[in-house]
Order: sequence, then structure tokens, then C-alpha cells
Amino acid sequence: MSAEPGGFVPPPYPYDRLRELEALAAEHPGGCVDLSVGTPTDPPPAAVVEALAHSGAERGYPPSIGSPAFRAAASGWMQRRLGVAIDPAQVAACIGSKEFVAGLPQWLRLRRPGRDTVLYPAVSYPTYAMGATLAGCRAVAVPVDEAFRLDCSAIGPGDAERALCLWVNTPGNPAGGLDDLAAAAAWGRAHDVPVFSDECYVEFTWDGPARTILEYGTAGVVAVHSLSKRSNLAGARVGCYAGDAELVTYLSEVRKHAGFMVAGPVQAAAVAAWEDDEHVDLQRSRYKARLARTQRILAGIDIDAPLPQGAFYLWVPAPDGDAWAFARRLASEAGVLASPGDFYGDAGRDHVRFAMVRPDEQLDLVARRLGVE
Ligand SMILES: Cc1ncc(COP(=O)(O)O)c(C=O)c1O
Repeated sequence: MSAEPGGFVPPPYPYDRLRELEALAAEHPGGCVDLSVGTPTDPPPAAVVEALAHSGAERGYPPSIGSPAFRAAASGWMQRRLGVAIDPAQVAACIGSKEFVAGLPQWLRLRRPGRDTVLYPAVSYPTYAMGATLAGCRAVAVPVDEAFRLDCSAIGPGDAERALCLWVNTPGNPAGGLDDLAAAAAWGRAHDVPVFSDECYVEFTWDGPARTILEYGTAGVVAVHSLSKRSNLAGARVGCYAGDAELVTYLSEVRKHAGFMVAGPVQAAAVAAWEDDEHVDLQRSRYKARLARTQRILAGIDIDAPLPQGAFYLWVPAPDGDAWAFARRLASEAGVLASPGDFYGDAGRDHVRFAMVRPDEQLDLVARRLGVE
């Protein structure tokens, strides 16, 4: 049965567009070094895997909002690492942050049917815009400045009046910028638009301390967190959202009706992950070392790769501004797969993103293939 004219046809998934380049990179002895998807490959802590295997939580249905232990552990982590006191009643579970990002516009629209617009950074994780599309809403990109901070003054009054939410992401994917969260929260409050702050890379902040929008109060703002990157648990699917009491309650009620639940054993693993910081400090040092090393390797082929202020990506201007040509050259000369910047919006089309998720031996391979270092 085919779609009706004008009906939604899912676009190709960004990474599926890389298959040809992946095959090219795979021709190198030793295979393709995949620096395209930001999927962790380092191990999660043993105590987390232990909790996953032996929680005994697999029999009954888990609480959709998160178990009391889950919400307390997330709140304790925010207090310890981000310096904010958030009542566990203002914290709820999500099945990783992607499903939350993608589903949010439809839930917000049910609550405010007169609005239909999602505002998001012009260079960003593609799911902000896709969430709008999946809800039949408008996705309106907000320009960013040279440091990848949102230019809220560029949001027109018409778009502000129609906005269901404003997304901000800091440290940001793909460019690793640190946004002005006080300014975003203030803009949202002034315009009666909830601000959702995607902080899944918060513990990989390199310039200064980790920062959260919750430092500026919880009214009208929600921070979204994930254990995918913090604890190398992308396969377990778990995160949380926290902030404005009314919004968190509304969203958790809707999600309970829809059957969104983090698996019980995964909730137990999340408690262990949020209670431990040592593994995060180790992971930080791995990412920092790989960022510096990959920067050196690229310098060896005359590519200038600025280090990010946060997150674990290098966001690199493509020679001649042609990102796909640069990605092809990397695949054929270095056996490296990288993400062309148009995956993150038209405004990113002249850059390429490298994810620091492969072990050192794979970077050794790249250095050897290029004859650098
Ligand atoms: C900015 C940003 N937000 C959210 C996600 C989704 O992560 P997860 O669903 O694993 O929590 C990603 C994944 O790469 C991301 O880069």
C-alpha cells in the first residue's frame, strides 16, 4: 500500500548515505576506521554491567517515570557533578535521549494545539528537526554565531508565537560549542516558550566547568541527559529529563499512557552508573587524548582541525568547502569514514565531523596509512 500524494516518506537515514564511502574505506588492509557515528566503543564500568545482569528487575513492569532509586540517583548526580539541587520529583526516565527528542513535539502540541513550530540550532543533531517533521510540525532553524551559540534575536515574532519549544545543545553536536544557557532560558521565559536543553555531553566539557540550564532555575526549562555517552551505555538505552515541575509531570504522564518504559534491569544499571564518577573521568581522558591525536594526524596532511570546547567530535572545515569530496578523499586515502556536515543542517555543509570513538590502535592505522606522525 503506497503513501498518499503528499504523505510522509522517510528520508534516507544520514548514516545510510555513507555505504559507498564505507566500502571504499574498507578496501584498506585492516578495514574501515569508522569515525562517522558517535557510538561509544569503550567499555562501561563493571559494576554497571553487574547491576544490569543481576538486578532481578526483569519480571515486573518497570515504572515509566523511573524507579525511586533511579530518580534519586539522577538527582544526586546533578547535585554532585553539575552543582544543582533538583528534587527527584522533577526527574523522569527516558529510553535514551533520542526517542525523547523525536517524540517531544507531538506531546507538546497535544497540550498547546494552537502552536506548531520547533526551534532548533541551525547546525545541530538532526533529530530536533526530525521530531518536528514526525509530529507534522514546522522545524525552524535558529542561526548560530561563529562560536555556535544560538542567535535568539534572529527568531521572528511570528515563529516565537507559534513555538512549542526551543532546543539548545551544549556542549553541542557536531561542533562542540558551549552555548549561553542563561540567555536561552531568558529568551524562553520572555516568550512563553519552553526551552529544552540537550546536555548529553555535559561531562565532556573541556573549557571550564560542566554547565546546565538548571543553574538558572527550573521554571520553563527542561534539561535532557543520557547515559549513552557518559557511561558508554548507548546499547542499554537510558537517560532522563529534569526541570520544570509541571512540564516533567505532564510529559511523564503522557509517556506512561504511551508505554514508554526503561527496562527494569537497565534502570538498575543506570543507578550504578550515575553513582560513579571515576569511569567518567577515565573516559574524559580517553576522548581528550584522541582529540589531540586526531588533530595532529590531520595536521600531517595540512588539515587544520580546531579543538572543540566540549563533546568528542572534531568539526573540520573541508578544503574548498566540499564536504563530500573531503569525506571521499579520507575514505580512499586513509580508510576513514567521517560524516559530511550536511547531516547536521545546510549550514554545516562545508564541514566534516570526526567522532573520537575508536581505540588508539585504529588511529595508529590511520597515521600509518597517511604516512604521518
Ligand atoms: C546531541 C545529541 N542528543 C541526543 C543524542 C541521542 O543519544 P541517546 O539516544 O543515545 O541518548 C545524541 C547522539 O548522538 C546526540 O548527539
